[in-house]
Amino acid sequence: MDIDSLKRSAVTAVENVSNLKDLEAVRVKYLGRKGELTKILRSLKELSLKERREIGPAANKLKQELGKLIEERKQTVQGIASEGGHNDVTRPGEKVKIGHIHPLTRIEREVRDIFTSLNFSIIDGPEIETEYYNFDALNIPPNHPARDVWDTFWLKQSATKKGKPLLRTHTSPMQIRYMETHEPPFQIIVPGRVFRYEATDASHEINFYQVEGLMVGKNVTLANFKYVMEEFLKRLFGHQVQFRFRPGYFPFVEPGLEVDIKLSKEHHRLGGKWLEIMGAGMVHRKVFNAVKYNSNPPAGGVQGFAFGVGLDRLAMIKYNIPDIRLFYSGDLRFVRQF
Ligand code: PHE
Repeated sequence: MDIDSLKRSAVTAVENVSNLKDLEAVRVKYLGRKGELTKILRSLKELSLKERREIGPAANKLKQELGKLIEERKQTVQGIASEGGHNDVTRPGEKVKIGHIHPLTRIEREVRDIFTSLNFSIIDGPEIETEYYNFDALNIPPNHPARDVWDTFWLKQSATKKGKPLLRTHTSPMQIRYMETHEPPFQIIVPGRVFRYEATDASHEINFYQVEGLMVGKNVTLANFKYVMEEFLKRLFGHQVQFRFRPGYFPFVEPGLEVDIKLSKEHHRLGGKWLEIMGAGMVHRKVFNAVKYNSNPPAGGVQGFAFGVGLDRLAMIKYNIPDIRLFYSGDLRFVRQF
């Protein structure tokens, strides 16, 4: 018998057995001491060199393959046996274990996509900052009472020319870093992690995520900001969202405002209530001075708006998460829901 037809009959035989005893019989028939394949291998020495060269490797290969096939079939047959001798086709399918995207990653990706489609560039910045970028250049000089708003983790390293090192308390320092090295017009967002030295509770963590936005150009106004907000919220929540601007104070914007949103009662647990989601405003002239921009529109200067939105807060609203600490708990039962 030639190797090919031997292979066909052996494979069919293996596939047709449904219990271990029959499988063993098939193994003996082909691979046993007097098995058909064994016989061929034994008789190789009686063949001419040419025939040996042809049949030898093929027979050895088949021996390997058949051994493997029988081993695999054994597993299957054993599996069937442990289920009472037959395959229970009504058994529920087994859930395939796949990884999950952390809700903060997910919301960040959504926000990035929305702003990319609005022609904003995405910029990255350092988590370790200096006093100058985190405070001074943003019009928050030492001893300014507003510094207390951002409880700060100071680092032990000694001060540099740009002041004492610290963990950034907001993403706003990237406004300065970006403007120092770029000329307007531009529109950017800066997603990133920020740190605050404060007690934790359901809505406060020592670290969380923000997205800074900054648009600067010759005729950029709050009306442009309003349009960007409208589009952003509509795309993020998948429908028109009611929002309002309230006066707010941040030393680096003038006028400063806070943005509140109100979702519908039918769609959201927090619907019907005004929820504060970000700080914003027109970039303060002193901030432009710090980066040496001409901020005098009649003299060809620029103006712009900035905003800072809390990603954790957005995710909590959008995905109905009641406690900010869940994001950082490392509890897989939480992450697996996303
Ligand atoms: N950086 C501010 C905060 O963390 C938010 C903000 C950004 C406000 C930009 C105005 C403009 O609270």
